[in-house]
Amino acid sequence: MKGLLLAGGHGTRLRPLTFSGNKHMIPIANQPMLFYGLQHLRAAGVREAAVILGPIREGIEEQVGDGSRFGLRVTYVPQAEPKGLAHAVLCARDFLGDEPFLMYLGDNMLEHGAKPFADRFGVGDARGVVGVVPVKEPSQYGVAELDAHDTIVSVEEKPKSPRSNLAVVGVYLFDPAIHDVIAQLKPSQRGELEITDAIRLLQQETGQVRVIRLDGWWKDTGRPEDLLEANERVLASRSRSEFQVRGQIDPHASVSGLIELGEGSTIGPGTAVRGPVALGRDVHLEDGAFLGPYTSVGDHSVIRKAEVDRSILMEGVQIDARIRIVDSIIGRGAVLNARTHPPSGESFIIGDACRIIL
Ligand code: G1P
Repeated sequence: MKGLLLAGGHGTRLRPLTFSGNKHMIPIANQPMLFYGLQHLRAAGVREAAVILGPIREGIEEQVGDGSRFGLRVTYVPQAEPKGLAHAVLCARDFLGDEPFLMYLGDNMLEHGAKPFADRFGVGDARGVVGVVPVKEPSQYGVAELDAHDTIVSVEEKPKSPRSNLAVVGVYLFDPAIHDVIAQLKPSQRGELEITDAIRLLQQETGQVRVIRLDGWWKDTGRPEDLLEANERVLASRSRSEFQVRGQIDPHASVSGLIELGEGSTIGPGTAVRGPVALGRDVHLEDGAFLGPYTSVGDHSVIRKAEVDRSILMEGVQIDARIRIVDSIIGRGAVLNARTHPPSGESFIIGDACRIIL
């Protein structure tokens, strides 16, 4: 079974974070989102995977390389234009050959990864496996309507009037029959070859698309608030042994809950941390700083005086101000300092499409 990991999307709803890089490289609990997909593919039994790249691909090939650090052989396939998920399968046609493949959308985060799909496929009666999760706003997703035996009755992409509350998650397992189906697809109204159309046609032609109801959490990280929720979920569901303290905690710091602290990092005297939190390498908390639960801080960051709750701070962030920061995402190398001399008033250098809520 091969793997297909899609990392081509533009991530327009995540601007400004995606002006300077690919959305799949945004860190969740201090690890690029795409790495979770690679780890999940490997855990599901994949050894050879292709990563689909769009025009914004900064950092992906450099950091993923040949995939050996994930136990995978990784190759890269360009998708020059965003013509849809089924089009991405077309782009990878030569790589996929005549093997079944696990397809994973790089912006999807799943508690239990892709293994449930491989397990269901292993039963031997499926030509496709899709997963569904009940959601509050089904019209934002592919929506599956099922009968009493969980057989697919219909699948529609982002319908205005959804026939159920079951979203189709962004992980799919297909056998090579999908290629003939995709060859018959016509672009949808939004001009894309839709994977939902392929699933519907595959079910019509074979009657062998199986559905699994996923019981763990699932997050499509399209919007900034989704990133924060994914960060929270990952930190909340990590096992105790995954939190390791390699840095120094001062005896006069107040620390409780689960804490990940990378090499060379320090939690200084008079500071406080309430886990679960993840701090990278060479991170320093000083001068009364407080970190609340579900916060992650990237390598080489320094936080002084501030209180930070339920936030994602990327690499090299510097904060030195008496300020309470909540539900925030702060990009690489950003600086937030208090003014030390007049005039008073806030001073900003804010890039395009940033959001400041005071
Ligand atoms: C894609 C699929 C959709 C699926 C969703 C899951 O939508 O087209 O069927 O429910 O992923 O994340 P997108 O998020 O690319 O708009």
